[in-house]
Amino acid sequence: MAIENENKRKLENILNKYKLSLEEKEELINMIRTIYIHDEFQRRMTSEFKHHGEITLGTHILEDTVVTYLLSKKHLNKSKTFNYSMDSAVKIAMLHDLYTLPWQNNPDAGTRDFFNGHGFRHPIESVINAIAWYPELFNDENSKIIIDGIVHHMFPLPVIAFEIDTNNKNELKNFELVNRLSEENIQLLIESSNRNRIGLISFSRSLYPEGRIVSLADKTVSINQIKNWDSVAALVTGHNKTLLRKK
Ligand SMILES: [Fe+2]
Ligand SMILES: [Fe+2]
Repeated sequence: MAIENENKRKLENILNKYKLSLEEKEELINMIRTIYIHDEFQRRMTSEFKHHGEITLGTHILEDTVVTYLLSKKHLNKSKTFNYSMDSAVKIAMLHDLYTLPWQNNPDAGTRDFFNGHGFRHPIESVINAIAWYPELFNDENSKIIIDGIVHHMFPLPVIAFEIDTNNKNELKNFELVNRLSEENIQLLIESSNRNRIGLISFSRSLYPEGRIVSLADKTVSINQIKNWDSVAALVTGHNKTLLRKK
């Protein structure tokens, strides 16, 4: 998929909204380019994927990424010895919500079991999609930081504990991609999503500051993007009445 001019404009508008300097824009674009130009990312820039009300998933992710970048710079300025990878944090932000199906008003995104619902399941789908679509980002020591950051980005909300089983008990919508993951990355996903496990779910913040900063950026951006009660209710029910009325 070629990058539509409209999508380029959206990215430019977001960078301007947060008042990035030319240098900052260049630095950030260099960090996100390979993820951004992928067809699956570009699809999420369109109205096919509405994330909070009318706001597209692509816009949400890019805003999270810019806020993550700015928070990371602040942290690095505070402590020169701070052992922190801005590049990994920015990558977690770009990948954290790359779930498979649009979730609002979509019966196909539903599940039989409450804890397998989109809210608890989507970080696991995002890890699997990220590794399947961008395998080159997951073959060094940063893999564990990126996987753990995506898995626990919803904290203090829990995440479903990933289990390898042939019956897809986690009700993943991208289950067929699991066999594209290396044994090492599957182990990282299992270890991360089973930490502090209670029943079917894991309650834990990310072990790494990179993941915790993305989690903070995600909350900050989401609070500003959720404009009405129907969008809040949709987080639990999956149904957004405002969107249905507009249709
Ligand atoms: Fe999320
Ligand atoms: Fe998010």
